[in-house]
Amino acid sequence: MKDKIKSLLKKRKAIMLAHNYQPPEIQDLADLCGDSLELSIKASQTNAEVILFCGVTFMAETASILSPDKKVLLPCKNAGCPMADMVTPDDLKAKLDGFPPMPVVTYVNSSASVKALSTICCTSANVVKVVNSLDAEEIMMVPDRNLAGYAALHTDKKIHAWNGYCPIHDRLTPKDVLNAKQEHPDALFMAHPECRSEVLELADAILSTSGMIKYAGESKSSAFIIGTEAGLLYSLKKANPDKKFYPASIGMVCPDMKKITLDDIAASLEFMKGEVKVPENIRRPALKAVQGMIDLSI
Ligand code: 13P
Ligand code: SF4
Repeated sequence: MKDKIKSLLKKRKAIMLAHNYQPPEIQDLADLCGDSLELSIKASQTNAEVILFCGVTFMAETASILSPDKKVLLPCKNAGCPMADMVTPDDLKAKLDGFPPMPVVTYVNSSASVKALSTICCTSANVVKVVNSLDAEEIMMVPDRNLAGYAALHTDKKIHAWNGYCPIHDRLTPKDVLNAKQEHPDALFMAHPECRSEVLELADAILSTSGMIKYAGESKSSAFIIGTEAGLLYSLKKANPDKKFYPASIGMVCPDMKKITLDDIAASLEFMKGEVKVPENIRRPALKAVQGMIDLSI
């Protein structure tokens, strides 16, 4: 199956991008494994004719927003993101109506139509930079209340947070972390900003997924407790084979990130199945928000 996929990728002049939470066999096959920001940048810069995206819908949509002339394939159509579904364009418009005009900073974990209503996007890797780049005293942030809370600690601006959250990160409790710390007293605790503020308070470092891989590589410490989705443990071990990584809780598995199989990938490439294309009337305003974020980050 792996050889078949490699030859189909060549035949279709395709690049295979995978998020750090994808299963090991998919990470191993990908041309680039990364966090949301790295994958967006790559999707905006590739010469490939086809982008095969192993992740969830909002990631493939972001690739389509950035590369409208390429075919973007998501091998499993119903790999979504529950947090992205917690805000709709109509709900956002209704909420904004109740406030004076202010910029809207939208986490990339959102639909293309919500991005289209936004001033600028952000990821976990650049949220603080994005928020502080804006010439405004008040900012609306959607959809992640935890990411918004994290940003609020690093800015003088008043942040109005949408009440969304990632069910996988939000379920990690301080008790889980304290138990893990007791079991591994020498390990540093790295947390993703999608975790609750009381969990972030216990962290030695708060980072995006690729930020964690880099931090582990550069740190003098040889053991780490990981406060993010379980798939990252494979990427961490692969990049740092001599170091030890422990999940902060065994419950942190995103079912949507595990939906794509090697069979789906082969079928998608063979029959060009699973195309994700953002309509032009949404793509154009969404591009402004996504490109604004990329321009700040490269
Ligand atoms: P990053 O890899 O950008 O940190 O994103 C985490 C995430 O939840 C993606 O769904
Ligand atoms: Fe969405 Fe959370 Fe899954 Fe990421 S880990 S795709 S934010 S549900």
